Amino acid sequence: MKICRAKDYKELSRKAANLIRAQVVMKPDCILGLATGSSPVGTYEKLVEWYKKGDIDFSRVSTINLDEYRGLTPDNDQSYRYFMNIHLFDHVNIDKSRTSVPDGLEPDAEKACRDYDAIIEKSGGVDLQLLGLGHNGHIGFNEPSDEFPCGTHCVDLTPSTINANKRFFASEADVPRQAYTMGIRSIMLAKKIVVVVSGKDKAEILQKVVCGPITPQVPASVLQLHPDVTIVADEEALSCM
Ligand code: GLP
Repeated sequence: MKICRAKDYKELSRKAANLIRAQVVMKPDCILGLATGSSPVGTYEKLVEWYKKGDIDFSRVSTINLDEYRGLTPDNDQSYRYFMNIHLFDHVNIDKSRTSVPDGLEPDAEKACRDYDAIIEKSGGVDLQLLGLGHNGHIGFNEPSDEFPCGTHCVDLTPSTINANKRFFASEADVPRQAYTMGIRSIMLAKKIVVVVSGKDKAEILQKVVCGPITPQVPASVLQLHPDVTIVADEEALSCM
Protein backbone atom coordinates (compact mmCIF):
# COMPACT_ATOMS: atom_id res chain seq x y z
CA MET A 1 0.00 0.00 0.00
CA LYS A 2 1.32 3.43 -0.87
CA ILE A 3 0.42 6.32 1.41
CA CYS A 4 0.15 9.69 -0.26
CA ARG A 5 0.19 12.37 2.45
CA ALA A 6 -1.76 15.59 2.10
CA LYS A 7 -1.76 18.48 4.50
CA ASP A 8 -5.52 18.94 4.39
CA TYR A 9 -8.70 18.00 2.56
CA LYS A 10 -8.07 20.46 -0.25
CA GLU A 11 -4.65 19.02 -1.03
CA LEU A 12 -5.95 15.45 -0.67
CA SER A 13 -8.68 16.19 -3.21
CA ARG A 14 -6.20 17.66 -5.69
CA LYS A 15 -3.87 14.68 -5.33
CA ALA A 16 -6.65 12.12 -5.77
CA ALA A 17 -8.05 14.02 -8.76
CA ASN A 18 -4.57 14.04 -10.28
CA LEU A 19 -4.38 10.24 -10.06
CA ILE A 20 -7.74 10.01 -11.84
CA ARG A 21 -6.69 12.55 -14.46
CA ALA A 22 -3.49 10.57 -15.12
CA GLN A 23 -5.60 7.44 -15.61
CA VAL A 24 -7.91 9.18 -18.10
CA VAL A 25 -4.97 10.70 -19.99
CA MET A 26 -3.18 7.34 -20.24
CA LYS A 27 -6.34 5.47 -21.25
CA PRO A 28 -9.10 7.78 -22.53
CA ASP A 29 -11.59 4.90 -22.77
CA CYS A 30 -10.89 3.68 -19.24
CA ILE A 31 -13.43 2.31 -16.77
CA LEU A 32 -13.51 4.30 -13.55
CA GLY A 33 -15.01 2.74 -10.42
CA LEU A 34 -16.58 5.60 -8.48
CA ALA A 35 -17.58 6.20 -4.88
CA THR A 36 -19.98 8.46 -3.01
CA GLY A 37 -19.91 9.89 0.52
CA SER A 38 -18.36 13.20 1.54
CA SER A 39 -14.71 12.13 1.09
CA PRO A 40 -14.62 12.15 -2.74
CA VAL A 41 -16.66 15.36 -3.17
CA GLY A 42 -13.53 17.55 -3.37
CA THR A 43 -11.97 15.16 -5.86
CA TYR A 44 -15.00 15.47 -8.13
CA GLU A 45 -14.93 19.26 -7.73
CA LYS A 46 -11.34 19.33 -8.98
CA LEU A 47 -12.16 17.08 -11.94
CA VAL A 48 -15.05 19.38 -12.91
CA GLU A 49 -12.75 22.42 -12.61
CA TRP A 50 -10.12 20.80 -14.84
CA TYR A 51 -12.77 19.68 -17.33
CA LYS A 52 -13.97 23.29 -17.64
CA LYS A 53 -10.40 24.38 -18.35
CA GLY A 54 -10.08 21.71 -21.04
CA ASP A 55 -7.63 19.64 -19.02
CA ILE A 56 -9.58 16.38 -18.93
CA ASP A 57 -11.91 14.72 -21.40
CA PHE A 58 -14.56 12.25 -20.23
CA SER A 59 -16.09 11.59 -23.66
CA ARG A 60 -14.81 8.00 -23.85
CA VAL A 61 -14.81 7.21 -20.13
CA SER A 62 -17.21 4.68 -18.59
CA THR A 63 -18.00 4.51 -14.90
CA ILE A 64 -19.29 1.90 -12.49
CA ASN A 65 -20.40 3.03 -9.05
CA LEU A 66 -19.92 0.98 -5.93
CA ASP A 67 -23.35 1.03 -4.40
CA GLU A 68 -26.89 2.36 -4.13
CA TYR A 69 -29.53 2.52 -1.42
CA ARG A 70 -32.30 -0.01 -1.92
CA GLY A 71 -35.66 1.60 -2.57
CA LEU A 72 -34.57 5.11 -3.58
CA THR A 73 -35.52 6.45 -6.99
CA PRO A 74 -32.66 7.88 -9.12
CA ASP A 75 -34.14 11.37 -8.74
CA ASN A 76 -34.32 11.14 -4.93
CA ASP A 77 -31.76 13.67 -3.73
CA GLN A 78 -30.26 11.08 -1.36
CA SER A 79 -29.76 8.40 -4.00
CA TYR A 80 -26.23 7.78 -5.15
CA ARG A 81 -27.28 8.19 -8.79
CA TYR A 82 -28.42 11.72 -7.91
CA PHE A 83 -25.18 12.33 -5.99
CA MET A 84 -23.09 11.35 -9.01
CA ASN A 85 -25.16 13.55 -11.32
CA ILE A 86 -24.84 16.66 -9.18
CA HIS A 87 -21.20 16.21 -8.22
CA LEU A 88 -19.76 15.02 -11.53
CA PHE A 89 -21.83 13.68 -14.40
CA ASP A 90 -23.96 16.82 -14.98
CA HIS A 91 -20.85 19.00 -15.26
CA VAL A 92 -18.56 17.04 -17.59
CA ASN A 93 -18.80 15.58 -21.09
CA ILE A 94 -19.48 12.03 -19.96
CA ASP A 95 -22.01 9.95 -21.87
CA LYS A 96 -24.48 9.07 -19.11
CA SER A 97 -25.42 5.85 -20.87
CA ARG A 98 -21.93 4.70 -19.98
CA THR A 99 -22.40 5.37 -16.27
CA SER A 100 -23.68 2.57 -14.06
CA VAL A 101 -25.11 2.62 -10.55
CA PRO A 102 -26.95 -0.38 -9.04
CA ASP A 103 -30.70 -0.19 -9.64
CA GLY A 104 -32.04 0.71 -6.20
CA LEU A 105 -35.59 0.37 -7.45
CA GLU A 106 -35.30 -3.28 -8.47
CA PRO A 107 -37.36 -5.04 -5.79
CA ASP A 108 -35.93 -8.44 -6.61
CA ALA A 109 -32.60 -8.26 -4.78
CA GLU A 110 -31.14 -11.30 -6.50
CA LYS A 111 -31.93 -9.87 -9.90
CA ALA A 112 -30.53 -6.43 -9.01
CA CYS A 113 -27.25 -8.03 -7.92
CA ARG A 114 -27.05 -10.43 -10.86
CA ASP A 115 -27.69 -7.60 -13.32
CA TYR A 116 -25.00 -5.44 -11.75
CA ASP A 117 -22.44 -8.22 -11.78
CA ALA A 118 -23.22 -8.72 -15.47
CA ILE A 119 -22.52 -5.01 -16.09
CA ILE A 120 -19.19 -5.25 -14.24
CA GLU A 121 -18.25 -8.43 -16.11
CA LYS A 122 -19.20 -6.98 -19.49
CA SER A 123 -17.14 -3.83 -18.86
CA GLY A 124 -13.98 -5.91 -19.01
CA GLY A 125 -12.79 -4.68 -15.62
CA VAL A 126 -12.30 -1.48 -13.68
CA ASP A 127 -9.03 0.35 -14.41
CA LEU A 128 -9.10 2.64 -11.40
CA GLN A 129 -11.38 2.22 -8.40
CA LEU A 130 -11.93 5.23 -6.15
CA LEU A 131 -12.95 4.38 -2.57
CA GLY A 132 -13.92 6.19 0.60
CA LEU A 133 -13.65 4.54 4.00
CA GLY A 134 -16.49 4.01 6.46
CA HIS A 135 -15.91 4.54 10.20
CA ASN A 136 -16.18 0.80 10.77
CA GLY A 137 -13.81 0.02 7.88
CA HIS A 138 -16.49 -0.56 5.27
CA ILE A 139 -15.82 0.00 1.58
CA GLY A 140 -18.77 0.49 -0.73
CA PHE A 141 -21.38 -0.87 1.64
CA ASN A 142 -19.39 -4.00 2.52
CA GLU A 143 -20.01 -3.92 6.23
CA PRO A 144 -17.95 -5.85 8.84
CA SER A 145 -18.91 -9.52 8.68
CA ASP A 146 -17.55 -13.05 9.09
CA GLU A 147 -16.46 -13.32 5.48
CA PHE A 148 -15.52 -11.15 2.52
CA PRO A 149 -18.51 -11.11 0.13
CA CYS A 150 -17.59 -11.77 -3.50
CA GLY A 151 -20.07 -10.21 -5.88
CA THR A 152 -22.81 -7.61 -5.70
CA HIS A 153 -25.13 -8.26 -2.78
CA CYS A 154 -27.90 -6.69 -0.74
CA VAL A 155 -26.73 -5.57 2.71
CA ASP A 156 -28.46 -4.60 5.92
CA LEU A 157 -26.72 -1.41 6.95
CA THR A 158 -25.19 -1.44 10.42
CA PRO A 159 -26.33 1.02 13.10
CA SER A 160 -22.91 2.73 12.81
CA THR A 161 -23.39 3.34 9.07
CA ILE A 162 -27.00 4.46 9.48
CA ASN A 163 -25.84 6.85 12.19
CA ALA A 164 -22.96 8.18 10.06
CA ASN A 165 -25.18 8.72 7.03
CA LYS A 166 -28.17 10.26 8.81
CA ARG A 167 -26.58 13.72 8.39
CA PHE A 168 -27.62 13.57 4.71
CA PHE A 169 -31.28 12.77 5.51
CA ALA A 170 -34.07 14.68 7.25
CA SER A 171 -33.96 12.18 10.13
CA GLU A 172 -32.39 8.85 11.02
CA ALA A 173 -35.71 7.14 10.27
CA ASP A 174 -35.39 8.26 6.65
CA VAL A 175 -32.05 6.47 6.10
CA PRO A 176 -32.73 3.35 4.03
CA ARG A 177 -31.91 0.17 5.96
CA GLN A 178 -30.57 -1.73 2.98
CA ALA A 179 -28.31 -1.14 0.01
CA TYR A 180 -26.95 -2.93 -3.02
CA THR A 181 -23.17 -2.96 -3.11
CA MET A 182 -20.40 -4.28 -5.27
CA GLY A 183 -18.62 -7.13 -3.49
CA ILE A 184 -15.08 -7.24 -2.18
CA ARG A 185 -13.91 -9.54 -4.96
CA SER A 186 -15.13 -7.09 -7.62
CA ILE A 187 -13.37 -4.23 -5.83
CA MET A 188 -10.16 -6.26 -5.55
CA LEU A 189 -10.23 -7.02 -9.29
CA ALA A 190 -9.72 -3.33 -10.14
CA LYS A 191 -6.26 -2.78 -11.61
CA LYS A 192 -5.58 0.23 -9.45
CA ILE A 193 -7.29 1.44 -6.26
CA VAL A 194 -7.25 4.95 -4.80
CA VAL A 195 -8.70 5.46 -1.30
CA VAL A 196 -9.48 8.96 -0.04
CA VAL A 197 -9.51 9.37 3.73
CA SER A 198 -9.93 12.64 5.59
CA GLY A 199 -10.33 13.78 9.17
CA LYS A 200 -9.48 12.79 12.73
CA ASP A 201 -12.57 10.62 13.03
CA LYS A 202 -11.06 8.24 10.43
CA ALA A 203 -7.58 8.04 12.04
CA GLU A 204 -8.16 4.97 14.21
CA ILE A 205 -9.84 2.91 11.52
CA LEU A 206 -7.23 3.91 8.94
CA GLN A 207 -4.49 2.66 11.25
CA LYS A 208 -6.31 -0.70 11.53
CA VAL A 209 -6.82 -0.89 7.77
CA VAL A 210 -3.14 -0.33 7.01
CA CYS A 211 -1.37 -1.94 9.97
CA GLY A 212 -3.90 -4.33 11.51
CA PRO A 213 -4.72 -7.93 10.65
CA ILE A 214 -6.56 -8.68 7.41
CA THR A 215 -10.05 -9.53 8.56
CA PRO A 216 -13.62 -9.22 7.21
CA GLN A 217 -14.40 -7.45 10.50
CA VAL A 218 -12.42 -4.53 9.00
CA PRO A 219 -13.42 -4.96 5.33
CA ALA A 220 -10.90 -2.44 3.94
CA SER A 221 -8.01 -4.39 5.51
CA VAL A 222 -8.28 -6.75 2.52
CA LEU A 223 -6.73 -3.94 0.45
CA GLN A 224 -3.36 -4.90 1.98
CA LEU A 225 -3.45 -7.83 -0.46
CA HIS A 226 -3.96 -5.69 -3.56
CA PRO A 227 -0.82 -4.92 -5.61
CA ASP A 228 -1.65 -1.30 -6.47
CA VAL A 229 -3.41 0.67 -3.72
CA THR A 230 -2.75 4.34 -3.00
CA ILE A 231 -4.24 5.80 0.13
CA VAL A 232 -4.53 9.55 -0.21
CA ALA A 233 -5.03 10.84 3.32
CA ASP A 234 -4.70 14.13 5.16
CA GLU A 235 -2.62 14.74 8.27
CA GLU A 236 -5.60 14.29 10.58
CA ALA A 237 -6.54 10.92 9.11
CA LEU A 238 -2.91 9.83 9.42
CA SER A 239 -2.55 11.00 13.02
CA CYS A 240 -2.65 7.45 14.53
CA MET A 241 0.10 6.11 12.26
C1 GLP B 1 -21.03 5.48 2.62
C2 GLP B 1 -20.65 4.96 1.24
C3 GLP B 1 -19.18 4.60 1.17
C4 GLP B 1 -18.36 5.73 1.76
C5 GLP B 1 -18.70 5.89 3.21
C6 GLP B 1 -17.87 6.95 3.92
O1 GLP B 1 -21.38 4.48 3.50
N1 GLP B 1 -21.40 3.82 0.84
O2 GLP B 1 -18.83 4.34 -0.18
O3 GLP B 1 -16.99 5.45 1.61
O4 GLP B 1 -20.06 6.27 3.27
O5 GLP B 1 -18.43 8.19 3.71
P1 GLP B 1 -17.76 9.56 4.06
O6 GLP B 1 -16.74 9.78 3.00
O7 GLP B 1 -18.88 10.54 3.98
O8 GLP B 1 -17.18 9.43 5.41
